[in-house]
Amino acid sequence: MEKLQKIDIAKPFLSVDEWKAIKKPIQNGWVTQGKLVTDFESSFSNFHKTPFALATTSCTTALHLGLIALGVKPGDEVIVPSFTWISTANVVEYCGAKPIFADVDPSTFNLDFDDVKRKLTKKTKVIIPVHLFGLCCDILKLKRIIPKNVKILEDAACASGSKFFNNFAGNIGDAATFSFHPRKIITTGEGGMLSTKSKIIYDEICKLRNMGASISDSQRHFGPTPYILPEFKILGYNYRMTDIQAAIGISQMKKLKRIISRRKEMAAFYSESLSDLEWLILPKTPKNFSHAWQAYVTIVDPKKAPAKRNTIMETLEKKGISTRPGTQAVHMLGYYKKKYNIKSNDLPKSKFCYQNSMAIPLHNNLSLKDLKYVVKCIKNLDSKKNKI
Ligand SMILES: Cc1ncc(COP(=O)(O)O)c(C=O)c1O
Repeated sequence: MEKLQKIDIAKPFLSVDEWKAIKKPIQNGWVTQGKLVTDFESSFSNFHKTPFALATTSCTTALHLGLIALGVKPGDEVIVPSFTWISTANVVEYCGAKPIFADVDPSTFNLDFDDVKRKLTKKTKVIIPVHLFGLCCDILKLKRIIPKNVKILEDAACASGSKFFNNFAGNIGDAATFSFHPRKIITTGEGGMLSTKSKIIYDEICKLRNMGASISDSQRHFGPTPYILPEFKILGYNYRMTDIQAAIGISQMKKLKRIISRRKEMAAFYSESLSDLEWLILPKTPKNFSHAWQAYVTIVDPKKAPAKRNTIMETLEKKGISTRPGTQAVHMLGYYKKKYNIKSNDLPKSKFCYQNSMAIPLHNNLSLKDLKYVVKCIKNLDSKKNKI
């Protein structure tokens, strides 16, 4: 009998490099936010060609701080796509503001600009476009259709290293946030980064992420007056990344280019090998966009597929292949549905993507043999003798 291969949907690309990197903070004893966090931030900002980068505990906390720095308060509206991870909407709630869900375009999984236009009101303070699965939302186009006073906070959780028209994700909006959760392109376990061109936003977030303190612990500790405690003029949070996580992040940054280029090869392999399946709609990269392939997300065409999407996922799971829905339609989740009385059909394309999307395995530990096995099992679903 053929041995069952086990192929995970995602797996972080960690090695002895990260193992060696964490020795330093563990040996020297400085394990909270310190010099390694600063070094990680420099490495991230150099790579992404952004003047300022600030590490946080997650992309969610970076988004929260971004909204505070952009002045979001109770009574404001913030437009977010519905087809995204729940964090994109939750951070609006944290600020006491109202998330306004806009629909997405199933061909990119990113914001549908016509719906954004419909959702703009006098109360709209910020829009959070998401660069879903590593494909940039066209922020240049978005900027052209929104009033000048509406700010843009890019949710680039999945888009470290992604580009469009030669701009890295994060370089057009007022600020942008990235995730280093293990399912993302690079990881620090948990972790996030906020990037911005604005020195004012940078200075404010330096304080906000450290309980509102006027200077950081390491600045005070290694400065001339370590015995004088900082001033706290604003309400802040403990959203500090540790130096242990940053050590891993520095090591991951060295591999980022290689990680993305391998992901591109794997995505190209899938796109070529699966292109003849009528029932599986494959992700496309628009011209002038450089996809970082945080995930390879397909749509199981409900009219043509040999079975329902969930049955297909179950069948692949039995073959050892993990698949997942792309993400949630947040407007259909209990909290939002109840609080804002939203009907699932109010955002039909987000609902469609949630119900029919299927991410197939894509990570840097996969071999060509693994990819071929995934392709073979998906193609077998189609053949008469294996009809589900
Ligand atoms: C689009 C999007 N936004 C935000 C987040 C939140 O990231 P984190 O887990 O680092 O808080 C995620 C994570 O899955 C995401 O996919």
